[in-house]
Amino acid sequence: MSPDEKKKAAAMAAIEYIEDDSIVGVGTGSTVNYFIDQLAEIKNRIEGAVSSSKASEERLKKHNIPVVNLNHVNEIPVYIDGADESTKNLHLIKGGGGALTREKIVAAASNKFVCIVDDTKLVDMLGKFPLPVEVIPMAQSFVAREIAKLGGTPELRQGYTTDNGNIILDIHNLKIINPVEMETKLNQITGIVTNGLFALRPADILIIADNNEVKTIRR
Ligand code: A5P
Repeated sequence: MSPDEKKKAAAMAAIEYIEDDSIVGVGTGSTVNYFIDQLAEIKNRIEGAVSSSKASEERLKKHNIPVVNLNHVNEIPVYIDGADESTKNLHLIKGGGGALTREKIVAAASNKFVCIVDDTKLVDMLGKFPLPVEVIPMAQSFVAREIAKLGGTPELRQGYTTDNGNIILDIHNLKIINPVEMETKLNQITGIVTNGLFALRPADILIIADNNEVKTIRR
């Protein structure tokens, strides 16, 4: 299977987790784009979607899937999103597309997080993919110095502004031996809005497509 075929296969497998008459949490990225296209096929079965980014919102609207404000929703049974890296414990790095803050909010507000990836995303240890952190612009230098103290090398994502009007620092060379501990430490740095580690709230189900099949890991 080509990389795109794998993403599409993982996205298709996620459809079975969608509950009838529910609001679906929708992530961001190229894998999720395939999911949105699949969701369009069953849109009459759902009430609508809460989106984690302006980009996903546009795609949902193009398919005439109602997009609902999270503040107007009581329950999101299932959130579907991709990841940049995942361990077998379903700890993730997310934010390659810059939507990590809204993704973390929708994941936190959802009962179940189903993560869809191709097999290239599965790693033994997180951190080869530079860890994105969303930062309030005036805190850039301070946050960069604090990250250096943790052993990371922060790099400004050039020319990029998040949906929330902030910057992204991509942290290279970070040894993430204990993802929960690292996420907690980064959460303590004033000026960081969100870090891209999803370990305190990991995925509940990981759908992985490889060349031959689609596998599922549950937490
Ligand atoms: C978006 O901010 C990210 O968290 C994506 O979920 C992640 O980058 C995976 O994207 P792809 O599906 O495009 O690889």
